[in-house]
Formats: sequence, C-alpha cells, structure tokens
Amino acid sequence: MESIYGEYKDYLPLIMENICKIFREFNDRRYKETGCKAYEHLSCRIKAEESMREKCRRKGLEESPYSALHELKDAIGIRAVCGFVDDIYALVDFIKYSDKCEVVKEKDYIKHAKSNGYRSYHMIINFKTKFPDVDGNENGNYFAEIQLRTIAMDSWASLEHQMKYKKNISNQELIESELKRCADELAACDISMQTIRSLIRNGD
Ligand code: GTP
Ligand code: MG
Repeated sequence: MESIYGEYKDYLPLIMENICKIFREFNDRRYKETGCKAYEHLSCRIKAEESMREKCRRKGLEESPYSALHELKDAIGIRAVCGFVDDIYALVDFIKYSDKCEVVKEKDYIKHAKSNGYRSYHMIINFKTKFPDVDGNENGNYFAEIQLRTIAMDSWASLEHQMKYKKNISNQELIESELKRCADELAACDISMQTIRSLIRNGD
C-alpha cells in the first residue's frame, strides 16, 4: 500500500530535522549567552502511517496526502522539555518571532490546564521549505505540532498516556482522581522551582 504521505513522505524527516536545527541553534546561543539551556531535551517524530490513517478515519477525512499534510497538522511533531515554566514562554516568544515559522494555532494548557490535569503549551507552526507541498507550491509550507512542557508535565503526560491506552483498568476512577491531584501538585512545584530560581538569580 502506498504511504498516506504519498510522494512527500521522504521530505518529512528532512523538514523535521530543519525545524529541530532551529531549536538547537537557539539552545546553543542561549547557553553561550546566559549559561542556561533553553530546554533540557528535544524529541521529534513523524506520525506513524497507521496512526495518521486512524486519525483521518476518526475525523471523517479521506486517507490522502492532502488530509495528512494539510487538513491535519501534526504529521511532524516536536517536543521540547524544559527545566522551568519561564523557559517554555521564552521558547514560545522565540518561535513567534522567528521569521522561519508562522504560528497558526496556539493552546496554552499551562494557564488553562485540561480537566484531567494535562499541562503543556501547544503550537501549530507553518514552516517554509525548499520542498514541494500538497498545495502545489514549489517552495512548500509544512505544518508541525510543537509541544513545550516542563520535566514534571512530561512525566505526568507519559503516565497518563499509559493509562489511556490500557484497557480494562478496574480502578479507573481512583487513578484518574489521583492523576489529577498529582498534576496539581506538580504544577505547584513547578511554580515554586521557578520562584526559587528567580530568588537565586536576583540574589547576587
Ligand atoms: P488532536 O490531534 O486530534 O488531539 O487535536 P487537538 O486539537 O485536540 O490537539 P491537542 O492540542 O489537544 O492535543 C494534541 C496532542 O497533545 C495529543 O496528540 C497528545 O500528544 C497531547 N495531549 C493532548 N491532551 C492530552 C492529554 O490529556 N493527555 C496526554 N497524555 N497527552 C495529551
Ligand atoms: Mg486531542
């Protein structure tokens, strides 16, 4: 069966790498200038063929390159995990003012946590490339989903993700309420950590 990404499939890892490069350059520059990293870890993925097909079906879209690369906007996913909440907003600003990325959608699940306790900053960017795209542009635009989180938010999200995909959990309700409690505690801790860092920085 042909890839859902069609003739654009091979461009995706190259584009993803180019986006990551922008993040790494920012990280290096910030480290040189301030001695602090912009983020602790950077990870990225191309959405697996079957997950993309499943998502198209779930959203009532045709399983085509146009759906996968234009209608849906998370074929390319980049996640930066930061030490502190302020670092996330510094990255948000960097991305917003970068001339290579146009931010087309933003969700601040840090200021507005989801009811289950999920926190992260999400952005969809439109990235200019040298590759053709599904709209017929020679120097095409590709979407990517950026997720920015603290280490605490990230470990919470992976635990919650494990629960979501495990079927037949007997004490589901208890786990959900414990996860919610834990998310709120971690958020309080993230704020304290941020405050302590500011005190240390301003104290010299
Ligand atoms: P979808 O991609 O269809 O989910 O679109 P959306 O507009 O609902 O996107 P949203 O920004 O809410 O979520 C996109 C991604 O964020 C998901 O694919 C997950 O990786 C992550 N995410 C969102 N909500 C949760 C959550 O409650 N728990 C966890 N673990 N991850 C989440
Ligand atoms: Mg969703």
